[in-house]
Amino acid sequence: MKICTSIPETRKELEKLRSDGSRIALVPTMGALHDGHLELIREAYSHADKVVVSIFVNPVQFGPNEDYETYPRETDRDSGKCRSEGVSLIFSPDASEMYSDKKLSIEIDELNRHMCGASRPGFFEGVLLVVNKLFNIVRPDVALFGQKDIQQFQLIRKMAEEFNHDIELVMVPVVRANDGLALSSRNAYLSEEERLAAPLLYRSLLYIEKQISGGVNSPKMLLSHQRSELEAKGFKIDYLNLFDLQTLQPVERLSSRQKAVIAGAAWMGKTRLIDNILIEF
Ligand code: PAF
Repeated sequence: MKICTSIPETRKELEKLRSDGSRIALVPTMGALHDGHLELIREAYSHADKVVVSIFVNPVQFGPNEDYETYPRETDRDSGKCRSEGVSLIFSPDASEMYSDKKLSIEIDELNRHMCGASRPGFFEGVLLVVNKLFNIVRPDVALFGQKDIQQFQLIRKMAEEFNHDIELVMVPVVRANDGLALSSRNAYLSEEERLAAPLLYRSLLYIEKQISGGVNSPKMLLSHQRSELEAKGFKIDYLNLFDLQTLQPVERLSSRQKAVIAGAAWMGKTRLIDNILIEF
C-alpha cells in the first residue's frame, strides 16, 4: 500500500494502478476511520478492482467555532486499517498541497437551504470544493459516500453532474453500533453518559417511520412531539423533520410514492449527532 502526500506523486501511482485496466474506487474520508468507513471500502470492491482512500481533514468545511483543531487525527491507526482492507493507495495531503491562497468557491442552490446547510453556513461549499478537487486528482471510476451524510451525498451528486465528472456515485447505508447509534468519528467526543443517551435519536427516527408507514401522512404534530421528547432527554435539537429525497425541501404532507428522508441533527453535550432513515410513502 502506497501513502502519498503530494498530488504529482499520487497521479504517478494512479497511472501504475490503472495500467492493467483496473477500475479505481475512491473513498474520501477525514480519517479517524471506523467501521462505517471500512464498510465503504469493502463495498468499493463490488464496484472496482482497486481502492484509493483519501484522508484529509478539510479546513474549509469547518466553521470558525467548529472542531477543526480538535478533530481526531489517527494517521497510523488509519493506515493499518486501510492496509488490512487491501487498500492500494492512501492520499493524505496537507492543507498547503490542496489549497493555494486563491480559493475558488462553489455556490449552492436550494439543496443547501435546509438540514445541515441551514445550520452550518459554508460547510457544504467547503465539502464540494474538496470533493471536486479529489475527483480531479484521483479521477476515480466510482466514489463511495455514507448515507448518514445524505445531504452531502445529494449535493455531491449535483456537483458531479454540473462539473461533468464521469464518476459513478454510490451511497452506502448507515452503519450502526449494536444499540443503533450511527457510527461517526465525532462519537469519540461523547461522555459515557451521553453515549448511553445518544441512540435515542435513531429510536425517535424509527418511531416516526413507524407512524408514517402506519398511515400518518401529515406528520407535523408527530415531529413536534418527538422534538420535545428528545429535548426532555437532554438533546438540543438542530432539526428533526421530513424532507423530500430529491429536493431536500421539508415535506408537509406526503403524497403517494413520494421518496423522503426522516432526518435529524441534535447536540448531545458538545457533540453534534446526525442520522436519517429513507422512506417511501
Ligand atoms: O464525509 C466526510 O468525511 C467529508 O465531508 C468528506 C466527504 C471526506 C469531504 O471532506
